[in-house]
Amino acid sequence: SRVYLNGQFLPLAEACVPVLDRGFLFGDGVYEVIPAYGGHLFRLDAHLDRLGASLAAVRIGNPHDREGWKRVLQTLVDEAGPGDCSVYLQVTRGADVKRDHGFPPPEVRPTVFAMASPLHPPPRERLERGASARVMADIRWARCDIKAITLLPNVLLRQAALDAGDDEAILVRDGLALEGSASSLFIVADGILATPPKGPALLPGVTRDLVLELAQSHGRPWVERDIAEAELRCADEIWLTSSTREVTAVTRLDGVAVGDGRPGPVWRRMADWYRACKA
Ligand code: PDD
Repeated sequence: SRVYLNGQFLPLAEACVPVLDRGFLFGDGVYEVIPAYGGHLFRLDAHLDRLGASLAAVRIGNPHDREGWKRVLQTLVDEAGPGDCSVYLQVTRGADVKRDHGFPPPEVRPTVFAMASPLHPPPRERLERGASARVMADIRWARCDIKAITLLPNVLLRQAALDAGDDEAILVRDGLALEGSASSLFIVADGILATPPKGPALLPGVTRDLVLELAQSHGRPWVERDIAEAELRCADEIWLTSSTREVTAVTRLDGVAVGDGRPGPVWRRMADWYRACKA
């Protein structure tokens, strides 16, 4: 199947970007990851809203209107075939004729790239076992609400977790647990589902918002509030959510069992609600 680059659909091997592209030189761009279930792009408008916010925050003009994006992305999904897939898209500030930190002149157009990849939702037994996570100091910048392609801290944090034998890093800044290296964070404490409020310290997750919507519509109490590291460590349940990993229970934190070491009852209900809603 083909990928999309600057107005064209072409084979991956033919999709080339100049070495002076500012995404390559500076990490000067933003991205989205959107799941597609059964050929249907899931929560597409929320992802395109967030893309618009990221582009505005870094002052890159949006290269497509909403219908334009939908046409491009749906074409990729249609060509990917019948299975579930995830669509990756990125927009960089484009390729200038020299390397300079300041923005290029307006005739330099953004580089727009998108591709669809097969998405294998976590197998049942993996979901039932849960994931392991490690608490790490958040070494990222002060605008984590922007979905920037500049992911070096996230890469190093995720790899440090993998090196320690864990699946994900949970990031703590100023004593507060914020999110994973590529996922949003929830805890269940005293029967109430909690997640940190939106702000510059974390990405406004699309799956996060869906989980809150599902909690609301099923009458499950929830709250957006700060989560202290100490509360994380004694939570009854910990979940991580993302467009590619759905709702995953964390059953070990820094090598210690979360609750009884198995995915909890509130997670079980939420995972069912999520499955029903994506079907
Ligand atoms: N990451 N927080 C961070 C730092 C993320 O990178 C992501 C997603 C999320 C979850 O957001 P959403 O529910 O909208 O996917 C939270 C994507 C999947 C990635 O980088 O591959």
